[in-house]
Amino acid sequence: SVIVETPANPTCDLVDIAALAQAAGDVPLLVDNTVATPVLQRPARHGATLVLHSATKSIGGHGDVLAGVVACDTDWAARLRQVRAVTGAILHPLGAYLLHRGLQTLPIRVRAQQAAAEKLAGWCADHPAVEQAYHPSLHDPAGLVGRQMSGTGSLLAIDVRGGAPAAATVAGACRLITHAVSLGGVDTLIQHPASLTHRPVAGDAKPNGGLLRISVGLEDPEDLRADLAQALALIG
Ligand SMILES: Cc1ncc(COP(=O)(O)O)c(C=O)c1O
Repeated sequence: SVIVETPANPTCDLVDIAALAQAAGDVPLLVDNTVATPVLQRPARHGATLVLHSATKSIGGHGDVLAGVVACDTDWAARLRQVRAVTGAILHPLGAYLLHRGLQTLPIRVRAQQAAAEKLAGWCADHPAVEQAYHPSLHDPAGLVGRQMSGTGSLLAIDVRGGAPAAATVAGACRLITHAVSLGGVDTLIQHPASLTHRPVAGDAKPNGGLLRISVGLEDPEDLRADLAQALALIG
C-alpha cells in the first residue's frame, strides 16, 4: 500500500490526498490522520482506503491512554480483526472509557488548540532566533487548507538558529511547556525530533538538528508565548 501522513509530523508538510489516491490507482492508500484529527480532515472522502489515528494523541487528548483507530470498510476491518486476534492488541476497558470521554470535547479542544498554534506560529516566524517556523497557516503551497483540511491544526515546528545545541537549550529552558514527546493533548509539549521521535529515521529524511516540534495545548496562548520568549532569549 501507499502510506502517507498529512500534515506530516514534524514538518507540517501537506500532501494532496485526492491526487495521491488517483496516482495510486488500485494500490490501497493509507493516510495517517493523527495530526489533523477527524475534526479537520476526512481522508476517506478524498480517496483513502484506510485512515489511521493514534488515539493516544488528540482523540484521547489528555495524555493518559494508549490506543489506535483504523477507519476502513468492512472487508478491510475483517482482515485487520484477524491480525488483531493473532497479535492480541485489545483496548482495555479504562482506555475505552477515557477515549469515549475525550471524544466528547474533541472538536472544541482541536479548534482552541489550533487558534493558539496559529498565534504562536506567527510569532515564532518573526522571532530572530528562529530560522524558520512550520505550520499549515504559514506554508500551504497547494492550497489544501480549506479544500482538504478545514483548519490548520495544533502542531507546529521551529528551526532555531544554532542547530542541535541551541534546540537543546530552548527545550530544556521551557517552564510552562513540558519537554516531552506525544502531541495533540491539552498540555503543550516541546521535543527535539532528531534525537527523540525521529532518531531512527535515515540520513536525508531526518529533521534538522535545530528543529523543535511543539504540540500546542489549552494553556493561555500569551503564557505560552512568554515561556517560549524566555527560552529563545537564551540563544538569541
Ligand atoms: C502521526 C503519528 N502516527 C502514529 C503514531 C503512533 O502512535 P501510538 O504511540 O499511539 O502507537 C504517532 C506517535 O507516536 C504519531 O505521531
